[in-house]
Amino acid sequence: MQKVHDKPIYLDYASTTPIRPEIIADAHKIQQEFFENADSLHYGGQRVSDLVTKSRQYLAKQFNVLPQEVIFTSGASESNSAAIKGIAFANKHLGNHIITSKVEHSSVMGACKQLEDVFGFEVDYVGVDETGSVDLHQLKQLIRKDTILVALLAVNNEVGSINDIQEITSIVKKNPNTYLHIDGVQALARHDFELKQIDSVSFSAHKIYGVKGSGLWILKAHTPCLPLINGGQQQYGKRGGTTDNVAAILWAKTLRLALEDSKTYYNHVQELSNLLYETFENEPGIVLNSSRLGSPYIFNMSVLNVGSEIMMNGLNAKGIAVSAQSTCNSQSLKPSHVLMAMGANEKRALSSVRISLSHLTTRAEIEKTIETIMEIKKYVQHEL
Ligand SMILES: Cc1ncc(COP(=O)(O)O)c(C=O)c1O
Repeated sequence: MQKVHDKPIYLDYASTTPIRPEIIADAHKIQQEFFENADSLHYGGQRVSDLVTKSRQYLAKQFNVLPQEVIFTSGASESNSAAIKGIAFANKHLGNHIITSKVEHSSVMGACKQLEDVFGFEVDYVGVDETGSVDLHQLKQLIRKDTILVALLAVNNEVGSINDIQEITSIVKKNPNTYLHIDGVQALARHDFELKQIDSVSFSAHKIYGVKGSGLWILKAHTPCLPLINGGQQQYGKRGGTTDNVAAILWAKTLRLALEDSKTYYNHVQELSNLLYETFENEPGIVLNSSRLGSPYIFNMSVLNVGSEIMMNGLNAKGIAVSAQSTCNSQSLKPSHVLMAMGANEKRALSSVRISLSHLTTRAEIEKTIETIMEIKKYVQHEL
């Protein structure tokens, strides 16, 4: 059992965020008072259906899409899998070629790999520059007549690099047979992008102070896509299964509050990020893996000769929670695929630390974290 700290410092917001108290209260109320199946035709069902419709309409308006293009899922992993496999299967008659990148989340990587290994699709993995952003020149070269799908993330979850979605869209949309899926998880309510020409997008509620197990999938009406989960007429036949009323109804408020906070506190987060850059960018024995061009919400660096595990355990002992690579790969002893794709060597990739910030993060928390990292660095590097 690990020690419980009086004032723990949580800096792992890219992994998940705490649920807002108002969302917890609403979840409780909806669960108690609106339990009926939204697809039932009786009074109770229709009452629930009205609330789900209201939430869906708000989301559609925010994303500038049609209400029937908003699908509630169990999380972004499901949205990514459903989009990638569903679009690939439905468009196989047009081509067999898919493009993703070398720095995607495991849910995108896994879906593409399965299409390649089990279903005979051909997958190309576009490279990234030294900041982690997709190499647009290479993307242009990889697109072929038989490319049916390009699946890329908007903001990288390990290093915070931001892809130029507008430019990616204009490159991909030159080919009329190519559909574009964007993993927008780390961009939502932080780095908005235009969805107009994008065919499919995934989001997750627990990254924006909502409940876990709640995802969104924006699937444009014109996009042929086979459902991953078969069922009845729920969600326009795109995703079978009884809708999670609570998660669906909470989405609208979760997004509205996250957008408000992002507007109010973006500069605050930027200042904290600046402090991390100013402290570590010229520090001997440290290599930055994030760039100032990326998202201020995610800062990643390697403290050379101090393995990720040593740094994380040292910080953990002082009540400071950070991570190394993506939480989905946190049990892996392999170097981060993102850092390797960015050109890092194994030593650098195995000594990375990710500090991810929130509007809730204070300057005192960052100062304490900097001080503790410096102490651990000095101690371990001195021992070598
Ligand atoms: C970029 C990215 N995509 C997808 C996911 C998966 O989201 P979820 O936890 O809702 O399945 C995550 C979460 O770690 C993520 O950071």
